[in-house]
Amino acid sequence: MQWKTTWALVWAALVVGVWADTPANCTYEDVRGDWMFYETERTGGPDINCDSMGPIVHKRRISLEYPNVVVDEHGNKGSWTMIYNQGFEVKVAGRSYFAFSFYKESDEVVTSLCDKTFTGWSRDVTVRNWACYRAQKTTSVAPKETKKLQTPKSKTFYRHNLDFLKNIQKVQSSWYPAIYEEYEQWTLQDHFRRSGGAASVIHQRVTPAPADLLTRLRASMLPPEWDWRNVSGVNYVSDIRDQGACGSCYAFASMAALESRVRILTDNELKPTFSPQDVVSCSKLSQGCEGGFPYLIAGRYAQDKGVVAEKCAPYTGEDDACSTVASCRRHYTAHYRYVGGYYGACNEIEMKLALVRGGPLAVGFEVYGDFMSYKGGVYHHTGLTDGFNPFEITNHAVLVVGYGVDSKTGENYWTVKNSWGPNWGEDGYFRIRRGTDECGIESLAVEVVPIP
Ligand SMILES: *[C@@H]1O[C@H](CO)[C@@H](O)[C@H](O)[C@H]1NC(C)=O
Ligand SMILES: *[C@@H]1O[C@H](CO)[C@@H](O)[C@H](O)[C@H]1NC(C)=O
Repeated sequence: MQWKTTWALVWAALVVGVWADTPANCTYEDVRGDWMFYETERTGGPDINCDSMGPIVHKRRISLEYPNVVVDEHGNKGSWTMIYNQGFEVKVAGRSYFAFSFYKESDEVVTSLCDKTFTGWSRDVTVRNWACYRAQKTTSVAPKETKKLQTPKSKTFYRHNLDFLKNIQKVQSSWYPAIYEEYEQWTLQDHFRRSGGAASVIHQRVTPAPADLLTRLRASMLPPEWDWRNVSGVNYVSDIRDQGACGSCYAFASMAALESRVRILTDNELKPTFSPQDVVSCSKLSQGCEGGFPYLIAGRYAQDKGVVAEKCAPYTGEDDACSTVASCRRHYTAHYRYVGGYYGACNEIEMKLALVRGGPLAVGFEVYGDFMSYKGGVYHHTGLTDGFNPFEITNHAVLVVGYGVDSKTGENYWTVKNSWGPNWGEDGYFRIRRGTDECGIESLAVEVVPIP
């Protein structure tokens, strides 16, 4: 046992309400249906400013149908996906559209207006001819109000709760906790950001779709274990990094996915380290240190703008202004998708296939208080909470690099790369229960194909 002395670390009074940048809470059913897309002239470049719209030149009628089918006003078919509960992306007739769903904020409430979007970006699938657009559903969706939580004691440092860690050991033996002394230097708000940030607070999630027979057959041919850190003795995974007290996990998971896949595509001839700070400071598709989603970063941002080497925007862990060295080479994503084809179609079997076929997968999962103290073993949420301390469950982005079966317990697990430094967990990694959508880890996986 590596956790001796005092079990520290606890998640006390976790942040009630640092909703600096609350996104909408829109469901699949809110968004499915008929829309009008109002689009400006298609003459812009990737640096187009869509903070305001400009004159409308194109009006399009776009139907978003089950499960991920788009039909435009000419009958052309394409595909669409929700990005969690934040917005939706549409690809049809050679154009690709993304906008965040609309919401309003007052001091007390957030109102999601899921039948419209903020101004978003459209472009050809070849990433040319940019325009701004805004979408309005033809049938209205009732506004949804969410009460804002009270402002937290954000300067409170977390408190130790030895009983909590003892209880974790009492109720199960699949995994064990440890003290992380360094946690004491952070406030609860820092911890909250570290595990996902305000923009990724869990509102709702889909459950995994069942795999069809053919997919099951293909998966039955996969090896019983897989680890991209050791494929016939070769490592294709870049080093563990530390995001610090910034909600940039989504940027780290995205860069880690791209880094690994470049290694795989080039037999380790290229071993880049990409810059999460460029994303934190420069991306309009995420919320800086308040969170974001790998689909929009490893996928869309890396296709739209490209990512850069670490040295072009060294990590500061702050919401700094964008100051990436302009002359740096940009590295692009050729293809990206949610595993299964769209948000809602993911499951364990599709993930195994995608992992072995292409490389590590960026995923999101729910962080509960007990996860923070994980040191080793196969994690599952114990259901334990720290009685007097409310905890806001967040959506933390990480990188699945392998799967296996625990030799002692027989438990199936995923092997996952975290971004909390090499001293956390099992040398910076953790294992988590596989096949049961533990903490939602089988619901949000993203696969990307970078251009090396
Ligand atoms: C978000 O919407 C879902 C589905 O309508 C609902 O179950 C959930 O409680 C909402 N979350 C918040 C924080 O309002
Ligand atoms: C890689 O895996 C092989 C086979 O399981 C094992 O013998 C070897 O020690 C591993 N290498 C490293 C560097 O872990």
